[in-house]
Amino acid sequence: MENIFLNTLLGKTCQRPPVWLMRQAGRVLPRYQELRAQYSFSELMATPELAAKVTLLPVEDLGVDAAILFSDILTIPVSMGMQLEWTERGPRFPHPLAKSSQPLNRLNIQADKLDHVYKAIDCIVEQSHVPLIGFCGAPLTTLCYMLQGISSKATFPEAKKFFYEHRAETEKLIDAVTELSIEYATQQIEHGIDAFQLFESHAGLIPTELYKEVFLPAVCRITDAVRSAGIPLIFFPKGLGSGLQLITPDVCDFVSIDWQTPLVEARKMVHPEVGLQGNFDPHLLFASKEEIEQAIESYKPFFQQHSHWIVNLGHGVLADTPFENVKYFVNRIKETNWTK
Ligand code: CP3
Repeated sequence: MENIFLNTLLGKTCQRPPVWLMRQAGRVLPRYQELRAQYSFSELMATPELAAKVTLLPVEDLGVDAAILFSDILTIPVSMGMQLEWTERGPRFPHPLAKSSQPLNRLNIQADKLDHVYKAIDCIVEQSHVPLIGFCGAPLTTLCYMLQGISSKATFPEAKKFFYEHRAETEKLIDAVTELSIEYATQQIEHGIDAFQLFESHAGLIPTELYKEVFLPAVCRITDAVRSAGIPLIFFPKGLGSGLQLITPDVCDFVSIDWQTPLVEARKMVHPEVGLQGNFDPHLLFASKEEIEQAIESYKPFFQQHSHWIVNLGHGVLADTPFENVKYFVNRIKETNWTK
């Protein structure tokens, strides 16, 4: 099937850049809010028919060019035996691994706890031909939550200390998360996803050298497994900064750029054969329609030089963003004449 998102991912030049948004499934959609009034977030995720419905809502209500599976990166720690609570303020692991003297012994992998995700993919593929993006968290980001326990401390100090104090244990934990992530990604592919995004939302937490030495090899094990199954891979290393120089075609097909890094600067750092995704500031969607339109216009010269580009935000859609503005943004991307 001809599709602008998949064609761009495969390196073909299209008339306009494709558009989808991180955290498009949920959050700002009025029809998602209605569902959330009836079901909890975890009920929506755990019920394949409902997860499939939420996955397809942004395609219907926003007109984005791809769907991303409605799930969460924290499914991996849960299937490794960690207890997870969804609180008003976000996810919380009441028994974080950094407090444990033998963290590996605390883990008890039950891969069948991920089965509901594969069933949701079956349901989506049955109903729709829109390109479907599967995903998981990259090992550093996943381990930040597992070690620290809560996300409100966005700096994850206990997790960082652990990496320095217990290098051997850290490497074993990375291995365990990587193995399960490969299995998870492979199953998602067998059930019919068309592309895969690896979320490394906390890449900026540690020095680039440490990232390169300890975490990037694990990332490459996951990306190799996905790409050798014929599925294009987008990597989102948020906060990597000048470390973007490490992003070569060995790592991924596309790299998603955060809102801190100007896209033209990212283009100079990332290997020329790797495509870019991003990187409008999520806060732009609080501005007036005129300002949103101007911001989009300012990216035209970029597209005219680098058609290897997927439009997205530099991080997820923020919870209180006006739905009308999100819709306006997607429409403008699709209606702008990008070639003139
Ligand atoms: O992009 C999509 O719309 C698909 C679904 C998706 C969710 N989470 C649903 C979600 C995806 C791809 C994620 C990834 C995810 N989850 C990341 C990586 C991307 C990023 O934003 O940095 C991370 C770090 C998580 C962990 C997580 N999940 C946190 C810290 C929180 C609470 C704070 C917040 O951002 O809302 C969540 C909750 C969450 N995940 C919601 C949704 C729709 C909100 C739950 C609700 O409806 O109450």
